[in-house]
Amino acid sequence: MLATSSVLIVAGSETSITMLSCTMNHLVQNPDKMALLAAKIRKAFKREDDFALSPLRDLPYLNVVLNEGLRMCNSTPVGAPRVVPPGCGTVSGVRFPEGEFINMHSLTVSRSPKIWYDSNPFHPKRWLEKKSAEFGMDQQNAIQLSGVDLRSCIGRLLTWAEIRLILARLV
Ligand code: HEM
Repeated sequence: MLATSSVLIVAGSETSITMLSCTMNHLVQNPDKMALLAAKIRKAFKREDDFALSPLRDLPYLNVVLNEGLRMCNSTPVGAPRVVPPGCGTVSGVRFPEGEFINMHSLTVSRSPKIWYDSNPFHPKRWLEKKSAEFGMDQQNAIQLSGVDLRSCIGRLLTWAEIRLILARLV
């Protein structure tokens, strides 16, 4: 019970806080985007008490700001380390011996100019303009917030509920 609680607190708090601080940092440095987000939220909700999970989930600009915040500063920078199973393993055509520790740093993916157009600045609209000349070639699936498959994040729904509510209140 103690160990499980400890895992949930560590896995669930640092990750969300890092992601939110990073997003807020980029919003503060981009006042036009901060103003646009605030306007969208105030248009959708008359009072702070009206914030509820399901209408917040349906606010496109809030979601793309959070996606871009996550791209800019992934809260699991160590990636998802794995040990190659018995026999050997192949990743992207490269063979690794059994027992080898392999990992991919999340920021190498989320800031790569081979994957993202104009990869270093904060562009929430890249998530809306999937067919634009600029952002149309972005490989959005390259980012997997919650990991994939069997060991993926059990807190992903809670995370999105949390970060939407908190950011909406902050702006
Ligand atoms: C921005 C917030 C979060 C991010 C970016 C995140 C990311 C991840 C990732 C990438 C994994 C998979 C690691 C792997 O494949 O080795 C993971 C696993 C996990 N996450 Fe999260 N997480 C977040 C929030 C949370 C929250 C709120 C909780 C719980 C309250 C949580 C609990 C866990 C647990 C227990 C695992 C291990 C699952 C397993 O191995 O079966 N996470 N998380």
